[in-house]
Amino acid sequence: MIKVFEPSLTLSDKLSVIRTLFNNNISGTSPIIEEFETETAKIFNRKHGIAISNGSTALEIAFQLLDLKRGDEVILPSFTIISCLSAVLRTGATPIFSDVDSNTWNMDITHIEKLLTPNTKAVLMVHTYGLAADATKIKDFCETNNLFLVEDAAEAHGQIEGGKKCGSFGDISTLSFYANKHVTTGEGGMILVDSDQYSAKSRQMINLDFNNNERFKHNNLYWNYRLSGLQASLGLSQIKHLDKTISNKISQGLYYTNLLSEYADLIQCPLSEFDNVKNHYWVYGIVLKNGANREKVTDDLSSRGIQTRPFFWPLHLQNSLPEEFKRSENKLPNAEFIGKNGFYIPIGNHISKNDQDYIIENVLESINAR
Ligand SMILES: Cc1ncc(COP(=O)(O)O)c(C=O)c1O
Repeated sequence: MIKVFEPSLTLSDKLSVIRTLFNNNISGTSPIIEEFETETAKIFNRKHGIAISNGSTALEIAFQLLDLKRGDEVILPSFTIISCLSAVLRTGATPIFSDVDSNTWNMDITHIEKLLTPNTKAVLMVHTYGLAADATKIKDFCETNNLFLVEDAAEAHGQIEGGKKCGSFGDISTLSFYANKHVTTGEGGMILVDSDQYSAKSRQMINLDFNNNERFKHNNLYWNYRLSGLQASLGLSQIKHLDKTISNKISQGLYYTNLLSEYADLIQCPLSEFDNVKNHYWVYGIVLKNGANREKVTDDLSSRGIQTRPFFWPLHLQNSLPEEFKRSENKLPNAEFIGKNGFYIPIGNHISKNDQDYIIENVLESINAR
């Protein structure tokens, strides 16, 4: 089976973990954690990096920091990971779902402007599948309207928009280091902030509200969301080859797009560039345009040894969304269309050009284009 992704681990990544193991630096309070935080914050142009157990808990803490109340509204794209929705819902605030652009698959400023009300308190901006969102404009919009901006840069490590690093736009930005991310620690994540208060409070929140003076007296019921030293040592090594990871992904993504160039009426490919941002192809997604049944196509590909993943299912259609937030007028046609017809195909160091040829040949056969 050609896997849809495989973590790409170099010999130096493995040695870095072994070295840490020999140094006994395995817990979440090891000095290597701080090293990883400092290096990540530097690369993402932020004052503070707070290592955390995964990208979902990073979002969770980001929203807990905002002190939102019932009735407050948070605008977020419907086409994204469920973690975004749970983080908003757990604050008691109301999620207001935005559609996404049919070409970039990102929420853009025109979608957000329409959703602003006197109750809007925050915007959650997510960079999708390796292409940056309209980050400069969304940040300006938030500043003008006095809204918090939370930025999820899990899928955009190393990406740049308007000359600024993705991960440096949000009042609070978050990263995931899950095994399919451009920098991985297996499981893991990071909160990125410039504010000293946010940094200090999130450190308390992810560490059971331990306090140095009276260790086992706790003023708040918080969580243990610490990352381990072994994970940090993998991340520290991985982050050194981020540029190479991205350049490999770009050449594979462009190669797929080239192979599919004659089939634009049947298959929508990711944009290779938008608004001067080059796609980094965190994943290579395609959307079926000819009415072909996605499940049938992906089952067919699976039987030919090619693993795929469906696109995100829109958040406004999730069974887990409480009734009170479901709105019948809430039709988000682009999110719904790509959620139903999109899937991604294997990309990464584990596949060769021959594999890519084989994959596209079979995609085309499965949709009867050949
Ligand atoms: C945009 C985005 N945010 C958050 C997450 C959640 O990260 P994790 O799997 O580390 O919890 C993911 C996971 O893939 C993601 O793609």
